[in-house]
Amino acid sequence: MASKSKVQWSSKTAFLLAAVGSAVGLGNIWRFPYLAGENGGSAFVLVYVGFVFLIGIPVLLAELTIGRRGGMSPIGSVRKIALESGLSKHWDWLGRVGTFGGGLGLLSFYSVIAGWVMAYIIQAAIGAFSGITAVEAQGAMQDYSAHAGTMTFWHFAFTGITVFIVGKGIQGGLEKAVTYLMPALFLLLLLMVGYSMATAEFGKAVEFLFTPDFSKINSGVVLTALGQAFFSLSVTVGTMFAYGAYLPKDVSLHKSAILIASADTAVALLAGLAIFPLVFAYGLSPDSGPTLIFVTLPIAFGQMPGGAVIGTAFFVLLTIAAITSSISLLEPAVAWFEERFRMKRWYASLIGGGIAFLVGMLTLYSNNDWAELVPLSFVGIETVSGKIANWGNLIDFFVSNMVMPISGFMIAIFAGWFVKRDFLKEEMGLPEGGIFEIWHVLIKYVVPLALGYVIFMGLK
Ligand code: PHE
Repeated sequence: MASKSKVQWSSKTAFLLAAVGSAVGLGNIWRFPYLAGENGGSAFVLVYVGFVFLIGIPVLLAELTIGRRGGMSPIGSVRKIALESGLSKHWDWLGRVGTFGGGLGLLSFYSVIAGWVMAYIIQAAIGAFSGITAVEAQGAMQDYSAHAGTMTFWHFAFTGITVFIVGKGIQGGLEKAVTYLMPALFLLLLLMVGYSMATAEFGKAVEFLFTPDFSKINSGVVLTALGQAFFSLSVTVGTMFAYGAYLPKDVSLHKSAILIASADTAVALLAGLAIFPLVFAYGLSPDSGPTLIFVTLPIAFGQMPGGAVIGTAFFVLLTIAAITSSISLLEPAVAWFEERFRMKRWYASLIGGGIAFLVGMLTLYSNNDWAELVPLSFVGIETVSGKIANWGNLIDFFVSNMVMPISGFMIAIFAGWFVKRDFLKEEMGLPEGGIFEIWHVLIKYVVPLALGYVIFMGLK
């Protein structure tokens, strides 16, 4: 098998920024708030944060470790480590499921939403949101999603940007952009929390997000929180294997994992604190689903002084945050195409992006023309997680609630039970006992048991 030309991050900071850039994206600002809203607020938040630390971080660390030791595409690295440990090469299915079912599957709808964010840059810039009421903001949102043509344009534009950057290779300019823009997004988010605190129903939002209400926890909430923990940390879809492969040996893997997860969680919680005060102040319903930020944010930018400028900046930064995530979704497939078929990076990127674009069209049409189309009704599947089983909801459910938990389960079994323990310890550069032992117990027992239980309950 062709060994990969060794691409590496230019520095430790560059890696951390890229990894945090991958983790922080629409998952934090678009998906986390709406899922929290749909799943009872605090109940969801509590389970989610618990999963990030108990399950997400151990899986993240396993991926970075296997990725760096393998030094190849996710599929190649898993296969290499399996062979090294005297196991079957077919373990590489673990990488295949993540790379294709997870990575490209997720990219397909990620880019539809990211395109929507891009479209709103223009709306904010031309002042379309100024003085907008809640009803008008809802109208504008419905207007956008009703037009398949406009949506396709932006979906195409976003996929195009992703394909272009990945086609050029990981270092090309992106590292520099990320260095300034990620912190800028963080600051702007803080500013918005401040705005919500000063003008909207901040107390209600805090109560909604943080007053534990265990009665609202059920198997659906738990499964969704788990999917979201994986989604937000960029694990189980190949990404962190791929990013680990570009890592110099002197970077501490466990510290990186903790840092990535902490930054990611902080951004999600801040996004919740920016959005929900507005939801309550403007009488919107917390469980309005994926369109939540496309209604709340325009209202906020429409009302605040300087909102056109701040709103434009915010949607620009959110687009960039989405790009640093989408490139990491495409990277695993591209790395594998290059490695397996000796394909040029450009072609690989075009093919991967093309597949994601086409599959994404199914989600796109589920916002308008095909909203009521139920493709699996012939086998009796009419709803998923209480929503109509159109293409969009089916794909989201398949990726987030099936592929991701199953892939996470397989990674834990592989790293905890099959890979030689010493390989992992060596690669992490940790002594026996202590942190290594804690990680090993988590990945060997806690993660598989918890995931097995969640998957089982979800299937029931
Ligand atoms: N974590 C990214 C986000 O929150 C999405 C993503 C998932 C990116 C998986 C890469 C891999 O937006």
